[in-house]
Amino acid sequence: TDNQLFSHQILSWYRANPRELPWRGIQDPYKIWLSEIILQQTRVAQGMPYYFKFTEAYPTVKDLALAPEEEVLRLWQGLGYYSRARNLHSCAKYVWHELDGNFPETYKELLLLKGVGSYTASAIASFAFGEVKAVVDGNVFRVLARYFGIETDIASGKGKKQFEALADQLIPADHPGEFNQAMMDFGARHCTPANPSCDTCPLSSSCFALNNKMVKDLPVKINK
Ligand code: ADE
Repeated sequence: TDNQLFSHQILSWYRANPRELPWRGIQDPYKIWLSEIILQQTRVAQGMPYYFKFTEAYPTVKDLALAPEEEVLRLWQGLGYYSRARNLHSCAKYVWHELDGNFPETYKELLLLKGVGSYTASAIASFAFGEVKAVVDGNVFRVLARYFGIETDIASGKGKKQFEALADQLIPADHPGEFNQAMMDFGARHCTPANPSCDTCPLSSSCFALNNKMVKDLPVKINK
């Protein structure tokens, strides 16, 4: 089917264009969570040194839980959105003191952590535990809207639901984490908002937007 073709091509692209990131290829949910919180409002290049600082200062959730709050906030300096650092510390204390140091292992439980929304919970659940949960963000909206020719407003509740349902159909049960990484990277580095690399795109022959000269028109976002 077209869905299987899409998923297969995205995975092949990712395997041929790997981005070496320190939080890739690891299983530790604590470190994956740390990386995802850092990357919530921060670009990879800016977040990377903070990921190294934090994993060096606090190699385990216990180390972070037992650290003084002002030290955690000091390490966070320069990243902004300090509620992320406060949530980070408060979650670490919760995991250490209330969950016997066992990091939550399912999408549903991960969602209960402060600062962890559906995107971050899906990322951690799929990367660390192989749960079949698709990440959906701006990159994913763009790739799916273009390839499948979806004209629903991505800023609407209906749009969000439609893209989530499609992403959940596309994510392969045998490689959920890899598929999510692939979607993040493909959207961030190939199917970019401006000047996407359509001329070298492995999905170009079946891309709706390219074949209908609508690359610039998709995704649809109605400004409110
Ligand atoms: N942005 C959010 N999560 C990411 C990840 N795991 N890798 C690269 N960029 C990201």
